[in-house]
Amino acid sequence: MTANLYSFDDTSTQDAGTRAVSSPSGVHFLNIRVLGPNHRKRLLRHLLALETSDRYLRFGYVANDQQIESYIERLDFVNDAVFGVFNHRLEIVGMAHLAMCRDAAGNSVADFGVSVNPSLRGKGVGGRLYERAALHARNEGVEVLQIQALAENAAMLAIARKRGATVHRRGPESEAYLKLPRPDMESQLRELFEEYWANLLYNAKAQTRVFCGFLSSFQTLRQRVLSANKVCSP
Ligand SMILES: CC(C)(COP(=O)(O)OP(=O)(O)OC[C@H]1O[C@@H](n2cnc3c(N)ncnc32)[C@H](O)[C@@H]1OP(=O)(O)O)[C@@H](O)C(=O)NCCC(=O)NCCS
Repeated sequence: MTANLYSFDDTSTQDAGTRAVSSPSGVHFLNIRVLGPNHRKRLLRHLLALETSDRYLRFGYVANDQQIESYIERLDFVNDAVFGVFNHRLEIVGMAHLAMCRDAAGNSVADFGVSVNPSLRGKGVGGRLYERAALHARNEGVEVLQIQALAENAAMLAIARKRGATVHRRGPESEAYLKLPRPDMESQLRELFEEYWANLLYNAKAQTRVFCGFLSSFQTLRQRVLSANKVCSP
């Protein structure tokens, strides 16, 4: 598996604030959080914003709004794992769903699905979500991380191949399999650290938002008082 550090610099207005933090090596670290049921609304907004072609690539069919709503409602946050990347407005700009299951031989496998806002693509977010999900799956004792993607989904297959997955083509679909090593102390600590760091950055963003909100209300109030004083002054 490749390193968890990677370069990322988002300058788009829409998703500004999803900037990663510099690491000593000069590359960047993207914070990815484990999500819970309280994130359903934001997950829904992220998926509903996907265009038809992306919905087709993500679900294997052109999912309509109701189908996406039902997918979000059915997300199992207890047995599966859902990961999210947030922008400075704390909106979800990338998500991954790791569905735990067993294959025909009874082996523990996990199915990976992912989506990234179009404005952030090609910057390594999808790849990082894949690595984060693989780390979690490994620590859960999953043996194989699998992806079922359309054969035309070059970006998804490139992400998997680059990280050592074997890709088999079956007609219009492709399946990618990544054999995961057994968990060890290092992998467990790495996940703990990643989660801790991601929560720390998220809370910092949340507090910055509250502070900015306070500053802006204060400015508005100040303007009102100043205008009122002007009107009232003789
Ligand atoms: C697939 C998806 C998640 C990738 O997200 P991303 O943030 O752009 O991914 P990354 O930047 O980490 O990596 C994309 C890789 O694909 C490669 N790539 C992109 N388009 C490609 C193409 N047409 N041919 C070959 N490789 C391509 C990029 O070069 C990059 O590889 P690199 O890391 O070696 O440079 C995103 O395109 C998406 O949300 N698509 C719609 C939903 C979807 O298809 N989900 C996957 C099905 S489960």
